[in-house]
Amino acid sequence: VLIAGNWKMFKTPSETAEFCAALRDREAELEDTDVVVCPPYTSLHHAVSVLAGTSIAVFGQSVHWASEGPYTGEVSATMLGELGVTGAIVAHSERRQLFAETDETAALRVEGALDGGLSVIACVGETESEREAGETDAVLRRQVEALRVVVDEDHLDRLALAYEPVWAIGTGRTALPDDAGLIAGLIREQLRETLNTEMGEQVRILYGGSVNPGNIKDFMAKTNIDGALVGGASLDPDQFAAIVRYRI
Ligand code: PGA
Repeated sequence: VLIAGNWKMFKTPSETAEFCAALRDREAELEDTDVVVCPPYTSLHHAVSVLAGTSIAVFGQSVHWASEGPYTGEVSATMLGELGVTGAIVAHSERRQLFAETDETAALRVEGALDGGLSVIACVGETESEREAGETDAVLRRQVEALRVVVDEDHLDRLALAYEPVWAIGTGRTALPDDAGLIAGLIREQLRETLNTEMGEQVRILYGGSVNPGNIKDFMAKTNIDGALVGGASLDPDQFAAIVRYRI
């Protein structure tokens, strides 16, 4: 199981150090779950320092595909790696909607990150209007296919796909666990078909969108959901720890 906290543009370096110290004190309670925090770039160093020696990993919120170059505002896998950051989110819907991330750039970023030694949480999901137009399956197929074609088979164990229906992000409206489970199943089927059965099992599928301590159990009960990408509720160490400890 993988539970990742996407902090978005929240928490300064000092707030990050405080959060990470609180999480570190609870490490023993975090069970055998892979726990990841994704602070803003400016807080990565503090997160890595405070969490050093724990099993809690620190990921960036995006990553460029080149190792260096004239790409103002971007950072590379090499740069993140030297900081002690072990992975990155790619193509979060906010990047797709507000910063012109496309299936094409998402694929480049996934490829660059995996080749650069990072783990990746790549986000897919339909918008409200796509959902209303009955296009959910087609949109997800297109998004997953774009990412799948760039993934080297040797790197599959470092790839997670997060299904995040855009209309459920930060809105308090979650997908029904049954629907999320069904869609995770479709994604799994697509991976099995296009990779091969065994490899399709290796990629972890996460659900994201208004996950909280009260609903996490219902999502995790679904066969094809292997974890969660948590936004708002990951900003508080107590709530985040409660989500990680959903089994209790
Ligand atoms: P949310 O965000 O949990 O606040 O809905 C999830 C995400 O954007 O990854």
